[in-house]
Amino acid sequence: MTNTTNQTTTDTTTMTSFDQIIINANLATFSAHYGFDVHIDSKENGKSTSADHAPYGQLENAAIGIKEGTIAWIGSNEQMTPHLSHYQAAQIKDAVGNWITPGLIDCHTHLVYAGNRSNEFEARLHGASYQDIAAQGGGIVATVSATRAASIEEIFAQSEKRLLALIKEGVTSIEIKSGYGLDLDTERKMLTVARQLGDKYDIHVSTSYLAAHALPPEYKDRADDYIEQVCEWLPILHKEGLVDAVDGFCENIAFSSEQIRRVFEVARSLGLPVKLHSEQLSDIGGSALVAEYQGLSSDHLEHLSEADIEKMAASNTVAVLLPGAFYTLRDTKLPPIDALRKHQVAIAISTDCNPGTSPLTSLLLAMNMGCTLFYLTPEEVLAGATINAAQALGLSKKGRIEVGCDADLALWDITRPADLCYQIGLNPIEDIMRQGQWSKG
Ligand code: NIG
Ligand code: FE
Repeated sequence: MTNTTNQTTTDTTTMTSFDQIIINANLATFSAHYGFDVHIDSKENGKSTSADHAPYGQLENAAIGIKEGTIAWIGSNEQMTPHLSHYQAAQIKDAVGNWITPGLIDCHTHLVYAGNRSNEFEARLHGASYQDIAAQGGGIVATVSATRAASIEEIFAQSEKRLLALIKEGVTSIEIKSGYGLDLDTERKMLTVARQLGDKYDIHVSTSYLAAHALPPEYKDRADDYIEQVCEWLPILHKEGLVDAVDGFCENIAFSSEQIRRVFEVARSLGLPVKLHSEQLSDIGGSALVAEYQGLSSDHLEHLSEADIEKMAASNTVAVLLPGAFYTLRDTKLPPIDALRKHQVAIAISTDCNPGTSPLTSLLLAMNMGCTLFYLTPEEVLAGATINAAQALGLSKKGRIEVGCDADLALWDITRPADLCYQIGLNPIEDIMRQGQWSKG
């Protein structure tokens, strides 16, 4: 067990004043304070020799004190035991030796939309490619038609089911993009639903404005005119409090890096962070552009070059990998994992929940795919759904278990953290804490 003394106190006043306490827990903290360092192998040429290093930042036989929705104290079970009599039974959670991770964070989703595209799934199994379907007016544009036609209540009801599936697996923060509206009203409708979902379920929702996702049919052959509209709508929706970040789809079948640059300029003028769907099908310079704007993340990345990885490392841009889309599209080109490791770029893993390329509402399965398809280690994948996903959303108080961080936690009935990536289809969640409140009791 790693030394815990410098974040602990046994001062009786402090030790008896928590709103909630957790005892008998094994913690996967993902905190450097407790020895977490996912880059240790690349730093030490393959030899994990650092004495302070603890995989997963793990602390065994630990206790936590929570106050006002924040992690107020972390220490050993023995330090907490003398103070137990000050607490009511309802304030004490006995983890009985189970594991606690930070609440999971799904940092790239298109969860809000109407309709579905199982017809395209079927067409692909009859030989059509994703690009063929997009060229024939299907793909993203098919979901745009369904989303434009649906009422806000219908979109909410359909999206809520997907969110609940993620919440049941310990997701306490999620990013949700627009991008199936491609007109002002429908982009607004999607972002409003995203906010409503966050309010109803008391989870953190980061919204991303993704109007530069595809060319709507009414702008056929007028991509530059459409981008002008995208630039005009952004300040309007931002003023309405609907936008936390700005995204785009930089690809031959979508928008060029020069077109995306125009949108990023508006984002910069509004002080909004940027991110991008980049290098999914080809390399047209998306990640270099994100790095130039000090973006939060560059996402997909199968075709990313080492030169652009260096730019991402320099700008501290997270590489968000999306194995669900890789799997659904039966992609064979792997993202450049070894080069990302070599340059110590933070890697996040997400569902990319969307109706076309990743109809996936299980972050645990995305994590399993991250290991099996992308050869990531369980520690890398779990960091990718916690601390690095928090970085990808610019959330400095989430994604790790540390004093001062938000009390968003997931309690799992598992023997070791790797179980979360290893098991397929079994949900070992025991309880979830959001902002200091247990949801299952
Ligand atoms: O992340 N790449 C672009 N956007 C989505 C696909 C959306 C869709 O096909 O509906 C993605 O893969
Ligand atoms: Fe996506």
